[in-house]
Amino acid sequence: MIPKAELHCHIEGAVSPALAREMARRHNADLDSVLDGDRYRRQNFSVFLTSYDIVANLFRERDDFVQLAYDHYCALARDGCLYAEIFASPAHAEAVGLAPQSYLEGLDEGIARARRDCGIEGRIIVTGVRHLGPDAVRKAAEIAIGCGLEAVTGFGMAGNERTGRPRDYATAFDIAREGGLRLTCHAGEWVGPEGIEETMDVLKVERLGHGVRAAESETLTRRIADEGIVLEVCPGSNLSLGVYERFEDHPFRRLMEAGCRVTLNSDDPPHFQTSLADEYRIGRDVFGLSDGDLHRITRTALEAAFVDGDTRAQLLERLDKSA
Ligand code: ADE
Ligand code: ZN
Repeated sequence: MIPKAELHCHIEGAVSPALAREMARRHNADLDSVLDGDRYRRQNFSVFLTSYDIVANLFRERDDFVQLAYDHYCALARDGCLYAEIFASPAHAEAVGLAPQSYLEGLDEGIARARRDCGIEGRIIVTGVRHLGPDAVRKAAEIAIGCGLEAVTGFGMAGNERTGRPRDYATAFDIAREGGLRLTCHAGEWVGPEGIEETMDVLKVERLGHGVRAAESETLTRRIADEGIVLEVCPGSNLSLGVYERFEDHPFRRLMEAGCRVTLNSDDPPHFQTSLADEYRIGRDVFGLSDGDLHRITRTALEAAFVDGDTRAQLLERLDKSA
């Protein structure tokens, strides 16, 4: 089994249909618009964001998040994943009346238990939701730097990329950076090269969530390669949401061959009928990647992981041993 690592997965987007149904029963909620039998419905992006919120709103207690993170990490470990980061947005917890600190502590405990039981390492990237506006994203940054949890090592922004301009969110990213957090931001999923460039210039991130539309500009592709910006690429998500119509249109290989540091990720796996293991399979079967390429992709993810030097060295040693 190819050893794997994941940098881009939203924890509330990783709820299996079975667990969503169980939570819906508990809270007497209706999931007809979200699930079709035992699968998530295929949706366009704005309907997907609504479905995401409907499922997220079923998780209301600290322990719900312990279990969710534990199950997510143990499933990844079974698929050969050594390390995974999750995006966690405190705004979702607040929407159901759960204190952001309890939410993050629940996720932290789930990761700690999975580390003990399954040997997988993990970190949390606190994430602002762009379409909730700059104040909400700034609040997420403040929560992130104030939470005092060692597992919280990064800050990012997800949500509707067509809302506002990157510069509107500069204060939030400044707060997170000054608070010692590493930075990533969704860009280049729905907006083209201009949005990516402004994200790099103004938010000063070291990784881009998706970033694939950089391929529309040769100059920007070269800049991303030269600056060593890591792309958190999510091919299954891009196909499911219609960023690209066919896998043959997806620029993963072109970006890789242009020298960009690419990784493979699942984004919101059950929503897109995928998993991290499926993304590696897509890499092999659709993009024609060799085992060596896939190994290198895992290495890139570990090199770009938001972890301290000792943890990175240990993870890279595990990767090398499995070669
Ligand atoms: N939140 C969850 N999944 C997302 C995606 N693919 N893009 C932006 N925000 C998201
Ligand atoms: Zn995402």
